[in-house]
Amino acid sequence: MTEQSPALDNLLTESRTFPPSAEFAGQANAKAELYATADADREQFWAEQAERLSWDTKWSQVLDWTNAPFAKWFVGGKLNVAYNCVDRHVESGHGDQVAIHWIGEPGDTRDITYAQLKDEVSKAANALTALGVVAGDIVAIQLQMIPEAIFAMLACARIGALHSVVFGGFSPTALRARVDDAAAKIVITSDGQYRRGKAAPMKANVDEALQGAESVQKVIVVKRTGSDLDGETPWTDGRDLWWHELVDGQSAEHQPEAFDSEHPLFILYTSGTTGKPKGILHTSGGFLTQTAYTHNVVFDHKPGEDVYWCTADIGWITGHSYIVYGPLANRVTQVVYEGTPNTPHEGRHWEIIQKYQVSIYYTAPTLIRTFMKWGADIPARYDLTSLRVLGSVGEPINPEAWIWYRETIGANKTPVVDTWWQTETGAIMISPLPGVTSAKPGSAQRALPGISAKVVDDTGTEVGHGGGGYLVLDKPWPSMLRGVWGDEERFRETYWSRFADQGYYFAGDGAKYDDDGDIWLLGRVDDVMNVSGHRISTTEVESALVSHPTVAEAAVVGATDPTTGQGIVAFVILRGDAVDGGDQAVQDLRNHVAKEIGPIAKPRQIMVVPELPKTRSGKIMRRLLRDVAENRAIGDVTTLADSSVMALISTGLQSGKEE
Ligand code: WTA
Repeated sequence: MTEQSPALDNLLTESRTFPPSAEFAGQANAKAELYATADADREQFWAEQAERLSWDTKWSQVLDWTNAPFAKWFVGGKLNVAYNCVDRHVESGHGDQVAIHWIGEPGDTRDITYAQLKDEVSKAANALTALGVVAGDIVAIQLQMIPEAIFAMLACARIGALHSVVFGGFSPTALRARVDDAAAKIVITSDGQYRRGKAAPMKANVDEALQGAESVQKVIVVKRTGSDLDGETPWTDGRDLWWHELVDGQSAEHQPEAFDSEHPLFILYTSGTTGKPKGILHTSGGFLTQTAYTHNVVFDHKPGEDVYWCTADIGWITGHSYIVYGPLANRVTQVVYEGTPNTPHEGRHWEIIQKYQVSIYYTAPTLIRTFMKWGADIPARYDLTSLRVLGSVGEPINPEAWIWYRETIGANKTPVVDTWWQTETGAIMISPLPGVTSAKPGSAQRALPGISAKVVDDTGTEVGHGGGGYLVLDKPWPSMLRGVWGDEERFRETYWSRFADQGYYFAGDGAKYDDDGDIWLLGRVDDVMNVSGHRISTTEVESALVSHPTVAEAAVVGATDPTTGQGIVAFVILRGDAVDGGDQAVQDLRNHVAKEIGPIAKPRQIMVVPELPKTRSGKIMRRLLRDVAENRAIGDVTTLADSSVMALISTGLQSGKEE
């Protein structure tokens, strides 16, 4: 066995640990015993978590896995998801608690209490019903981060319609593909959106998308930018309706109906690396149970005391699970911010945290690295002492970014939870527990109580401590996807065929165990580089680069190399205060990587670039960087957030920055 090369080499070692303070541990929602409790009887454990919710009819069976990979959770149970997120908090006497502190990009604000949220959701539910929407219908929502987006999602849930939220920045073509795939009956959008201080049209794009779209009967338009927008909002009489004209006059009374625990709640399209987007299907009882449970234990949320802020967009799963469903089920008071983090200035997030006394802040590594690039002096101007838990999601977080986050934003004392999960998993799967885990910067560490994950080799055999391989989920979990919309074969093929013999869900991520058995995520397996027979993870080399004081952000790819198979090519963004030191600086960086993780991982080439190509959810598009590194014409850039980035990089290349 020793000759067999590992699925993934384990190169980077990190020895810093950060145990929770005794004070934090003492008050934490989740204590260490939770792991043993869950292990002792998994189904019983999940039944207890489901008791967080209010059920109209109790389930008769916790899990039915006889028809794997199609799970049924809380079989026979009935509940209304919106009732759980809204009404029951009003009924328990918290109608006056603020649910949402909404902040518009131009500076307008709106505080919405649970009583008001109940009225808004009920009116929207009545409006949809008046338009003929019934349980099982699909409503596409393309809206920026405004309260109506949340009202609309909850209104759908309330009447048993499925929402399909499409990110506000997606093109007409992307919207149309999603509307058609799901045969959406209604589209909800806005006239325009504020982005970086300007009003940009939204409805015009929707109209372009919907030309000839046969399934769509009505388009509901929220007036957001109004006269700030140049030109008239295009209008189709008979099809288009203003939200305020349709919804505001509806009754605020609406009786929520109980739906089966397995009633579909939503579909959310995820693009994956290639091919047409997959409509990931989630259902009701299990999804709400796991999002509420994880929001409680991972963020240590205390209803009525904490002010929570998840900076994701509702166009992503993080917005679904950790802005709308989990937090509202837990009676959160949360900040929802419409705009970009540097409008009108680079301290906007810190200003909001200071003003609203935000205590739990959940964001993505890409943004943390951007904050690093802007410089620590910016957050230093604000009072961030209200913060007590910081979270990260979306990508592996480089240890240096983790440390920066904890020190600069968290006053060197707040726990940082690095949460691993996917659109498909619906909720957090691997994460430290903030009052229990001795945190290690860069590691998501351990499957949560009730969840089971393993790192396995090519044959599906678990690797030992210190070994690398593929991340799998070896037991079903409540918020797991229930399928790919309209494509059972793709569901089986994508997630269940790689380790079909073992019945494992294959997440598509590389991972390793450290010597303590803690899990480190190593990036998508498609991105793994093979250098002279060593399988090297992009994440480890990127983290080594980011650990150099001059580097804010790094992306590495493997480019074909005549001698080594692949050679490592790195693209780096320097920190705000670092000067581009030319060839010597590049040489220093290469040596730094060699010192951190070994000469095998020394990049063949390092290019200093002003920006990196990212998807709109902030993930680096290594495919495009591979095109650059291999001198190919650059491929499909339609999912790129900023299409000018590739031009910037190519220009940098020609000016001879590389070694
Ligand atoms: C990556 C986002 C490392 C991973 C919730 C996963 C992470 C994909 C982490 C899912 C993390 C997410 N550490 N990698 N903490 N969180 N990922 O569907 O590659 O947008 O498979 O869901 O993001 O992305 P998605």
